[in-house]
Amino acid sequence: MSSWKHQHILDLANFSLEDYNIVFELSSRFKALPQTGTRKLPALQGKLITTLFFEPSTRTRASFEIAAKRLSADVQSFSASSSSLQKGETPLDTALTYVAMGADVLVVRHGSTNVPEQLANYLEASGRKTAVLNGGDGLHSHPSQGLLDLYTIANFFNPTNPNPQDLLNKKVAIVGDILHSRVARSNLWALTGCGANVVLCGPPSLLPDEFTDFVKAPPPGQAHDPITKRGQVSIERSLKAALKEADAVMTLRLQKERMHQNLITDLDRYHRDYGLTHSSLKWCRHNNIPVLHPGPVNRGVEMSSELLEDRSICLVGNQVSNGISIRMALLYLIATK
Ligand code: NCD
Repeated sequence: MSSWKHQHILDLANFSLEDYNIVFELSSRFKALPQTGTRKLPALQGKLITTLFFEPSTRTRASFEIAAKRLSADVQSFSASSSSLQKGETPLDTALTYVAMGADVLVVRHGSTNVPEQLANYLEASGRKTAVLNGGDGLHSHPSQGLLDLYTIANFFNPTNPNPQDLLNKKVAIVGDILHSRVARSNLWALTGCGANVVLCGPPSLLPDEFTDFVKAPPPGQAHDPITKRGQVSIERSLKAALKEADAVMTLRLQKERMHQNLITDLDRYHRDYGLTHSSLKWCRHNNIPVLHPGPVNRGVEMSSELLEDRSICLVGNQVSNGISIRMALLYLIATK
C-alpha cells in the first residue's frame, strides 16, 4: 500500500486517520477470505516472521503466528525459558541472532518499556532492514491489541463494513487497572484518534488523575500529533456513573505482576465496586452494550463468569478472532513496505 508510512509499528500515538483506514480496510479483506473459499494467501511467501516474546503470552503470540502462516510466511518462534537468555545473553543479542538468520519482521514483547523501539532504532542505525512490531512493552504500548479492540467496537456498530468513522462521538468506558495497562494506553490513542470520547473508571490507586491529560501531547521524540482533533478523556470514579454514559465498555485485568505494592487488598470489594456483571450493566442507558476484555480474564474479579460467557454482549471471542485479520494486515503492511 503506497500511502503506508511506517517501517515499524511501535505505538499508536503516531497513527493518522489514514493509517486507521488502511488497517481497517485490509483487515476486512483478510477477514472475508474464508467466505471466498480461501484461507491462505501467498502474499508473504519467502518472508521470515520471528515472534520474540520475553514475557508470557497466549493469544498475542499465537495470533501473530497464525496471521503470518495465513499469509504463507515462514514463522520462527522463540521461547525465553529455553533460550540462551538463561546463559546470560542479552535481549539485544538474542534479537540480533534472529536478524542474522534473516528475519524480515521481529514481533517483540518485553516487560520493559521501549525495548521494541530501542531495537528498531538500533537496527536502523546499523543499516538493517528488519522491521519491528511491538507485541506489548511494559506499561507503554500494545498497538495490535488497540487496533483489534477498535475494529471490534466499530464492527459491533457497523456489522457489514466497519470503519474508523463508526467510532466518532461514541463514548467508550475503560474500567479497572488503567495504571499498569499498555492496552488502555494504546486504546486511548486509538479511540480518541478516531473521535471517540473515553471515560476511564477505577480507584485512584489504579487510575491517577493525570490520565485526563494522557493524549494532550505527542510522546517524547515525536514532533507532532498526526490527528488534528482527538476525542476527550475524562475520569469517573463510580462505575454506575461511567456505565450510564457509555456506548461500549472495556474492562482490564488487575496486573498483579506489575504492582510493586499491594494496591488492591480486597478482591471481593474490588469486584463489588468495579466488577462488570449482568446486574451492573443495568446502569447503562442502552440495552446490550458491547463488553470487551483483552484477556486473560480473572473470572469473578473484573468480570463475572456469567458475563464472560454471554456471547450476545461479551465480545472477547470476537476480539480474539479479529486479532488474526488485524495482525495479517499489520504484518503485510510492514513486510511488503
Ligand atoms: C494484555 C497484555 O499482555 O498487555 N493481554 C493481551 O495481550 N491480550 C493484557 C493483560 O495481560 O492483562
